[in-house]
Amino acid sequence: MKITVAGAGNVGLVTAVGFAEAGHQVTCLDTQKEKIEILEKGHTPFFEPGLEPLLEKNLSNGQLCFTTNPNQAYSDADIIFIAVGTPEKRDGAVDLSYIYAAAYTIANTIKKDVIVCTKSTVPVGTNDIIKQIFLQRKPRHLKVDVVANPEFLREGSAITDFFLGDRIVIGADNHEAASIMEQLYLPLKIPIVVTDIRSAEMIKYASNAFLATKISFINEIANLCERVGANIEEVSYGMGMDKRIGTSNLQAGIGYGGSCFPKDTKALVQLAGNVHHPFKLLESVIKVNQHQHSLPVLKVKEMFGSLKGKKAALLGLAFKPETDDIREAVSLTIIKELLEEGSIVTAFDPIAIPNAYKLLGNSIEYTTSIRQALKGADFAVIATEWDQIKHLPLDTYVAYMNEPIVFDGRNCYSLKDMGRYPITYVSIGRPTVTNLKPAQRL
Ligand code: UGA
Repeated sequence: MKITVAGAGNVGLVTAVGFAEAGHQVTCLDTQKEKIEILEKGHTPFFEPGLEPLLEKNLSNGQLCFTTNPNQAYSDADIIFIAVGTPEKRDGAVDLSYIYAAAYTIANTIKKDVIVCTKSTVPVGTNDIIKQIFLQRKPRHLKVDVVANPEFLREGSAITDFFLGDRIVIGADNHEAASIMEQLYLPLKIPIVVTDIRSAEMIKYASNAFLATKISFINEIANLCERVGANIEEVSYGMGMDKRIGTSNLQAGIGYGGSCFPKDTKALVQLAGNVHHPFKLLESVIKVNQHQHSLPVLKVKEMFGSLKGKKAALLGLAFKPETDDIREAVSLTIIKELLEEGSIVTAFDPIAIPNAYKLLGNSIEYTTSIRQALKGADFAVIATEWDQIKHLPLDTYVAYMNEPIVFDGRNCYSLKDMGRYPITYVSIGRPTVTNLKPAQRL
């Protein structure tokens, strides 16, 4: 099939490359000329494991091409995926202007019948508005079927998720369009759920909101564990063995970040409010998450009192490992709060520094060496569980830091291992390991 993907962001690019790899003829359009130039050279504008080799391969074998030209992208397509950004507005609602702009352009450009499929995360009812746009703007003799096809890719494992996802959701209002979409996905051998458009839109929000709820729930249990002397790792493990609960998203820490959970939870609260149904549970999930973000600095302050002039090593800028994305990363809250307290911050990250620099400029120091970040530091805060951090020999903290005091927001190390070193180790939902009494050394 001839497929066009509108938008070369995390979702659009993986979708385009994935369908090209699956043997379809794919055109990917983006309005940003510089981005298209980078992609045409076989490079990805952001880091996603495994994406660049597949991009290069499908560019060179002619399965995939890029353009900024709507005529080239839309006029001959059988299926058009809309995968443009849906950023958050100031009030927590979703900015749908890029979605509607894409729909108008498609309506004005198509020259044959087409299925237009929304991949971007959009509030329930959005596809009905997209349908209206086509009814009003498309050439009368052409048929446009609008389908909701939310995506469930995770940054950092998006390629695996594309080919080995848990399910494909297709929301359609007619059998013919649904069945073409089913045929498209059939070779991937992933279970397919066919439903109506509004339910498909809701499945996406409900899934992200539920996953976020699991995280905030386990974080609250972790906070309780600290107060009652239990260990969250043992608790998560014991809970996750129940198949009804499941092991995923029970990793306690300093909360969720990224471009999806924070935005989508707020958008669902908005959506519920709009239909006069306050979503109290989700409101609490968001509040708990905000509290978790502030835990590291609260804990550091508890230990040091004043942080003025204290040197902090911030380990991990990306919102999660295997990505250079810092959108809504917890590291940003920690840095902001540390700077407000007068701390001097050196941040380590293997790949997210360029993105962080665009936002934070020279307010902090940056390094791609953990040892450099730790050198002379009074304390370290772990914000992202990068493998480099998890596998760091623990005596590095002792050798390089002024004071080996580690606040681990992602529970990277076992308490037993930490107990062998003269390190003060504060983690989430687990007893503190105090092999040195920091107060004596300060
Ligand atoms: C999330 C969903 O997992 C995807 O299914 C969905 O497609 C995507 O949003 C989206 O809507 O586009 P993503 O944000 O890339 O994917 O990453 P996750 O792996 O879900 O992690 C999100 C945040 O939760 C990260 O900050 C991570 O550190 C945190 N997290 C995750 C925890 O704190 N604990 C956990 O147990 C799991």
